[in-house]
Amino acid sequence: MTMDTNINLSAKELDDLSFDEFDEVINPKPESNDFDAIVEEAVSRRGFMGGVLAFGGVATLGAATTALTPISARAADNRFGFNAVAASSEDTIIVPEGYNWHIATRWGDPLFSDVPEFDHATRGTAASQARAFGDNNDGMSIFTDKDGHQILVVNNEYTNRSVMWGNNPDGKFVTEDDINKGKNAHGLTAAEVKEVDGKWQIVKDSPFNRRFTPDEPMDITGPARGHDLMKTSADPGGVTVLGTFNNCGNGRTPWGTYLACEENFNGYFGTTDAEGYVQDDAKKRYGVSGKDRGYGWWTVDARFDVDKDPNECNRHGYITEVDPYDPNSVPKKRTALGRFKHENAEVVVNADGRIAIYMGDDERGEFLYRYISDGFYAEGGNTDDLMENGTIYAAKFHADGTGKWLALTPEATGMDQAEICMFTRTAASKLGATTMDRPEWVAANPLKAEVYCALTNNRNRGVKPNAGGDETPVGGPNPREANNFGQIVRWWPSAGDHTADTFKWDLFVMAGNPTVHEDANGGSHNVTEGNMFNSPDGLSFDNKGLLWIQTDGNYSNEKDFAGQGNNQMLIGDPVTGEIRRFLVGPKQAEITGIAWSADRRTVFVGVQHPGERGESNWPDGGDKTPRSGIVAVRRDDGAAIG
Ligand code: FEO
Ligand code: CA
Ligand code: CA
Repeated sequence: MTMDTNINLSAKELDDLSFDEFDEVINPKPESNDFDAIVEEAVSRRGFMGGVLAFGGVATLGAATTALTPISARAADNRFGFNAVAASSEDTIIVPEGYNWHIATRWGDPLFSDVPEFDHATRGTAASQARAFGDNNDGMSIFTDKDGHQILVVNNEYTNRSVMWGNNPDGKFVTEDDINKGKNAHGLTAAEVKEVDGKWQIVKDSPFNRRFTPDEPMDITGPARGHDLMKTSADPGGVTVLGTFNNCGNGRTPWGTYLACEENFNGYFGTTDAEGYVQDDAKKRYGVSGKDRGYGWWTVDARFDVDKDPNECNRHGYITEVDPYDPNSVPKKRTALGRFKHENAEVVVNADGRIAIYMGDDERGEFLYRYISDGFYAEGGNTDDLMENGTIYAAKFHADGTGKWLALTPEATGMDQAEICMFTRTAASKLGATTMDRPEWVAANPLKAEVYCALTNNRNRGVKPNAGGDETPVGGPNPREANNFGQIVRWWPSAGDHTADTFKWDLFVMAGNPTVHEDANGGSHNVTEGNMFNSPDGLSFDNKGLLWIQTDGNYSNEKDFAGQGNNQMLIGDPVTGEIRRFLVGPKQAEITGIAWSADRRTVFVGVQHPGERGESNWPDGGDKTPRSGIVAVRRDDGAAIG
């Protein structure tokens, strides 16, 4: 766009202004007009203060103000409905005045009345864990059936050894039962929940209650089904896999199913001969190293020994579809959606009825993906093909604020469709997709064709390539070298069409610490001393079109992170760019996973790995074992939230 500005500066001079200087030039701000867009463009071209190209595409925003408009210039009125909470390093949950919280469920809570309550001394057994709420809850959704039963489905991503086995010397497994307890704490939990005397709890023995452990039989579907590289000694047809594990974020389909997204599946595969193990390129790209992360599964279950069953690892790293309404349903691993370290799956019904699924690959320098179904969704119609036949794309961002989706087709990649689905990273590398700062959750604005992705941080940005050898240049949506703080990128599909091959993008926020840094690490304009955070991770829109942002970052409250306290949840307004802190979590926890009750008067928020380094007894207090859990947050006046 042209630099038609009403302040007497050339584009170059505008580009050279620091943020502070720039504020002086433009404040007080007139009524919003094209000037906003000019300001955006100036900042865009100059980039953040070190001359780092950061922003683009802002002229397309169409909004009166954006993330880059100074907070002081915005109207006092807002859509938040709460006053911000302060940062905190306390071992508790903090919510705004006028709101309250309680624990809805925690690691080890029984799903059935014949399972004992969680035992803080022993931390349960493999048998009790298999029928109790799993550990380290992450992404979740609530489904309501025709009779009003509310079914919570939640990922139990992983376990912290020091917590799971904290009753043992050195916090390690000793017995086979210890290993299987840890294994059974992984997977998914489905549980009916309801309010009893004003508190949410699991309905024990509900027919909807179910655990999906790493031993749950599942169908392999899609292009990779039956492929030679999917065959193992236990499954010579390559059509059935046991279990799912390390599911991070989640998704839900418009037809009422849950999507669990396998992330760091590689760390569960070990071997007695780790030194002699020869890692091929495919295993190298996915980090299957022959050394496990201390879970020990391979010592009790040979399929996790990469020498004995070299293909088992090819059967993980996918998205699994679960029908929460049918407790007898067999989950489906949907290989058509690709294999990588999935974060979540944001499902959008495009205007023409095709399904778009946005997915991040959370590893330093990996890619952002989109899947488009061949078929069209119709309410009540057959949906089984929608995640079977379609095309995966990887995102290419250009520095000028435009971007393109690169189709991972056999013609373009030289790989067949099954290979594309099993080795999706390799396919995207072949096409030169943009290496990203660890794409975490993706969230689509329900009010317009606009999509956001949290890029949590990337200490390797500009420092070293990804595991496939792709360079990680500084620039575009990844504007800071050795990025400690993270940012949120957003894009607008061309013509509002989620199947379009092109888009425009900008950064909604660059996290940072303006009390420590005056350069780009101070963050974008909408980051202040009062709302600063690092490492955005979970993202979800509410019905009002506000963006809920959850963090999984550095909680030291020191140095770069001084004043930021524990991990937290904030709410951003896509229209004004304002971000306000809503909740702070307990010590050494991550805030991840969000779901609303059917009446939207409760928002459920996940608290993962409190005390991962031994400094929390949340939520039970005293000297109790810390337990991941889900808190129910409500307004004191009982009104809806979001
Ligand atoms: Fe499990 Fe990418 O966080
Ligand atoms: Ca995450
Ligand atoms: Ca994370």
